[in-house]
Amino acid sequence: MAQVKITETILRDAHQSLIATRMTMDEMRPMLKAIDEVGFYSAEVWGGATFDACLRFLDEDPWERLRTIRKEMPNTKLQMLFRGQNMLGYRHYADDVLEYFVQKSVDNGIDILRIFDALNDIRNLESAINAAKKMGAHVQGAISYTTGPVFTTEYYVNYAKQLENAGADSICIKDMAALITPYYAEELVRALKENVKVPIQLHSHYTSGLASMAHLKAIEAGVDIIDTAMSPLGLGTSHPATESMVAALQGTEYDTGLDLKKLNVVREHCAKLRDKYLASGQLVPKLMGVDANTLLYQVPGGMLSNLVSQLAQAGKSDLLDEVLAEVPRVREDSGYPPLVTPTSQIVGTQAVFNVINGERYKMVTKEFKGMVRGEYGRTPVAIDPEFRKKIIGDAEPIDCRPADLIAPELEKLRAELPAEYNEQEEDVLSYAMFDKVATKFFENRLAKKNAPKEEELAGVKNFNLVVNGQNYAITVEEIALDAASPVAASAAPAAAPAPAAAPAPAAAPVAGGTQITSPMPGSILDVKVNVGDSVSNGQVLVLLEAMKMENEICAPADGKVLSVNVKKGDSVDTGSLMIVIG
Ligand code: CO
Repeated sequence: MAQVKITETILRDAHQSLIATRMTMDEMRPMLKAIDEVGFYSAEVWGGATFDACLRFLDEDPWERLRTIRKEMPNTKLQMLFRGQNMLGYRHYADDVLEYFVQKSVDNGIDILRIFDALNDIRNLESAINAAKKMGAHVQGAISYTTGPVFTTEYYVNYAKQLENAGADSICIKDMAALITPYYAEELVRALKENVKVPIQLHSHYTSGLASMAHLKAIEAGVDIIDTAMSPLGLGTSHPATESMVAALQGTEYDTGLDLKKLNVVREHCAKLRDKYLASGQLVPKLMGVDANTLLYQVPGGMLSNLVSQLAQAGKSDLLDEVLAEVPRVREDSGYPPLVTPTSQIVGTQAVFNVINGERYKMVTKEFKGMVRGEYGRTPVAIDPEFRKKIIGDAEPIDCRPADLIAPELEKLRAELPAEYNEQEEDVLSYAMFDKVATKFFENRLAKKNAPKEEELAGVKNFNLVVNGQNYAITVEEIALDAASPVAASAAPAAAPAPAAAPAPAAAPVAGGTQITSPMPGSILDVKVNVGDSVSNGQVLVLLEAMKMENEICAPADGKVLSVNVKKGDSVDTGSLMIVIG
């Protein structure tokens, strides 16, 4: 028996699970040195959601964040979560982009890559494992843990052996949905210890109230490393509390050797952050308690907080129970994918659509179609061909490793990225992951660089405004009385009356016809039709990005387009009129 090691998740999964990944670099910075002094085995700091939230909501360069953490925490191994061939994005990438991403992650400070595939399809991990090994990083192969008819101990042992054979230096049981029970954790860890040689780590969320017990039983069965979160942002949809686990093991053969006094320095800072998030409404108290529904609905912490916020945005918070009940049905239809990013988003969003549209699969996201088609790999259970046909139509199903169908794309991405946006080698990778969001981020970055210096603009102040948990960077200008000042000059046109404030001209009112409205808040990616076009039932009219998914809005019947009320780039709300056909 050996000392148990601890991976601290406060900088990644804890805030991803509790506040939709909105912890900023400014909020992290004051505690980094104290975290580094604790002596954790590793700190998880980076992953798809952190990368996405940095660019999308926080106006931060995720690479810069990684470099800052690396600099402030020289003594702690930094760990990231890597979604196999999806990397940090939501689609499969060509191997050349993947290899470059792994290289840059390690160059910028990552020591350990926890690599998983949402479908536990080993073919989707091989390139990432090989790339990380080539860079000399520690490769942790993660099992996406879930429950269901096919998910037996034998299934997991078999998958763990595949991971070990593929080169994993350690194996993680990734229980993102907080489903593992204490006695099953004991059984599974024991079976894994008997069948594979590399260290075993347990990652379990506290949502269902089982994780601390599961950790303890796993420790007794020989687990080597556990994931925890500092207590102020632990428990709930996050992880067992670091201090509690450390205290529980003190004086035993499993003693972590960590010092509660050193942990307390980190805890004090985290407690201030928790109070701040509660006051701003970013942290919903409901997510901090135990939700036993998760044992029934198999909804991971991050997904639950996303469903709550998606429904709130759509003004349909009262439908949460219906959506939670729809999730397992969508899952059964689509071959029992484990619920982990991106399949958790795909299944969750489809369940939301099925409920708020009042009809199952009336509207199907592009991503759900892709998963059913095989674009993400092999689902644990084969999908009923009839259901597949209903979802994908005449498209050809995919049986091979999906990335084999993707030609090298790094050079193409480089060519696409405008030169003025390309400030560092890593930018092309940000663009590869989240093209539209990254482009917006680059635009802002460039605008800031070209903006007049603050001293030239006396009276201009920048604020970070938080509304319903969303960060908005706003600039407030004082209208200077001195007409010669640059502020007065630049502010003048905006101060002109009426036209600027008038609503965008809408299409002329149309009598009759079927109004196609937006089922949820989002932005218009593309409008596929013009006024006067004839359209047929099921034809795509508009591409709407909502809930991070692309959705095709289709014609409900044959007809003619009478008016088009939106254009590319518009933001729409629930019920916004988009198209009228008649
Ligand atoms: Co997690």
